[in-house]
Amino acid sequence: MSLFEKEQRNERKELVLESPVSPSNLMRQNLFEQFRSKIIDNPSLDRKLVSFQANKQSPFYSWFKYREGFSCQLVQYLLQTLMPRSGILLDPFAGGGSALFAARDLGWTTEGIEALPVGIYAMKARIAAEKLNVESFRNSIKQILSEDFSKYYESKHALKHISITNGAFHEDEEKQLVGYISYCNQYIKDENIKLVFLYAGFCILEDISYTRKDGQYLRWDVRSGRSQGKTSFNKGIILSFRQAIESKLSQILNDLAEKPEQMSLFKEEKEENISKKQINILSGSCLEILPTLPESSIDFVLTSPPYANRYDYTRTYALELVYLGYNSEEVKKLRQTMLSCTVENRDKRQYLEEYYRKLNCVEGFHEIEKTFNEQAALQEVLSILDDYRDKGKLNNSNIARLVRNYFYEMCYVIYELARLIKPGGIITMVNDNVRYAGEEIPVDIILSDFAESFGLKVKFIWTLGRGKGNSSQQMGNHGRTELRKCVYVWEKERT
Ligand SMILES: C[S@@+](CC[C@H](N)C(=O)[O-])C[C@H]1O[C@@H](n2cnc3c(N)ncnc32)[C@H](O)[C@@H]1O
Repeated sequence: MSLFEKEQRNERKELVLESPVSPSNLMRQNLFEQFRSKIIDNPSLDRKLVSFQANKQSPFYSWFKYREGFSCQLVQYLLQTLMPRSGILLDPFAGGGSALFAARDLGWTTEGIEALPVGIYAMKARIAAEKLNVESFRNSIKQILSEDFSKYYESKHALKHISITNGAFHEDEEKQLVGYISYCNQYIKDENIKLVFLYAGFCILEDISYTRKDGQYLRWDVRSGRSQGKTSFNKGIILSFRQAIESKLSQILNDLAEKPEQMSLFKEEKEENISKKQINILSGSCLEILPTLPESSIDFVLTSPPYANRYDYTRTYALELVYLGYNSEEVKKLRQTMLSCTVENRDKRQYLEEYYRKLNCVEGFHEIEKTFNEQAALQEVLSILDDYRDKGKLNNSNIARLVRNYFYEMCYVIYELARLIKPGGIITMVNDNVRYAGEEIPVDIILSDFAESFGLKVKFIWTLGRGKGNSSQQMGNHGRTELRKCVYVWEKERT
């Protein structure tokens, strides 16, 4: 079952199980009334178009499934509809780079910020793949596949497992994998081919492992020998390293050779575009990087932050992080660097205050705090969640903290985006509303209200329906309705 299907099933389950328990939703009702006319169903957008699923046929996206990615078609739709002339585009939560690459192909200069090394690696590998000479790549594949990888095993390339990845691979297969990495590092001289080869190894980790990605953690196959939950899990066929790498390299080669136009390859005018239009990748947290970027320098922001739904990127991509050399301490540190959206995230308030002071932006810090503290619908939700926590009604007592930290940090992000965007510029954001203990948290309108506090105008909150219900029913029948999934469109008006 795909994550998407699972999400649908969980949501259906929730619809049946939860009863409306809200003591008060007055502030949320008021906020909803304030934005009612902006909340519009957009039939050109649906959930599939917005998610990575629409990329399935595209080369590159099918090499490694970055499940949080959105589709190239969405990027094209938003740019062509909202700003057909090109300029500078920023994605502060760049992920695998769908916004950056699709916009670049439409002639935009793009900048992306990403905290998770997995996304950074995927983007760098894609840039390397675009530069490959297909014939040398083909010859190098022939050569590498004739080798017995275990012969090249070097302990310095051995995976340094962390507790949540220990035993993820059969011993012999891991030896092959490490031998392959060692071979690439020692014998492949062309840096682009080396990166794409190593990326191919990265792309098959889940296929050759006893694990499956499952949002908040890795699920373990019964054959791993790890203890199982209530029901034991069998993921089906587990490929050997050789089967998997052969198939991945041949997929990559076929895509490069047969779908060059979709990779933006080898077409003269496109090549020219590629060298002119840059993709600038900044590695780190946007909470730190955004305040350092110049004011009024961006024409279009197209982004999708993590959702406030407990999804843990550092656990979901633990195998890939270990492959990239991250140890246990580094993974834990990374988890705290990411935008808060799990129950484990601690608050960053003191850190952010000091950081803004260091940058001489203390006024900005105060404005952000004030906006956060005065958002009435948010404060309503937070006090209800605190109360539920104190009464033991939350299935994890840190959910209240998660929601508070999520909005607190998003308040910084939105303040900075409002500062960076040029007059006449547009900010678009894909995000989902969430619900905890029966309380709907209308992320869309709370974040849109932050945006207005920072001088932006809310043009639309486009909802992506499944054809059930409408927005007013959703507010009226609290707790039993579909949660809105939206694309927000905010504008900085010219003065
Ligand atoms: C919903 S995904 C965006 C995916 C992206 N639109 C794509 O097409 O691949 C959110 C991304 O934000 C990243 N992220 C989380 N916290 C971050 C932070 N503090 N700064 C920058 N990126 C962060 C996550 O690693 C994840 O890749």
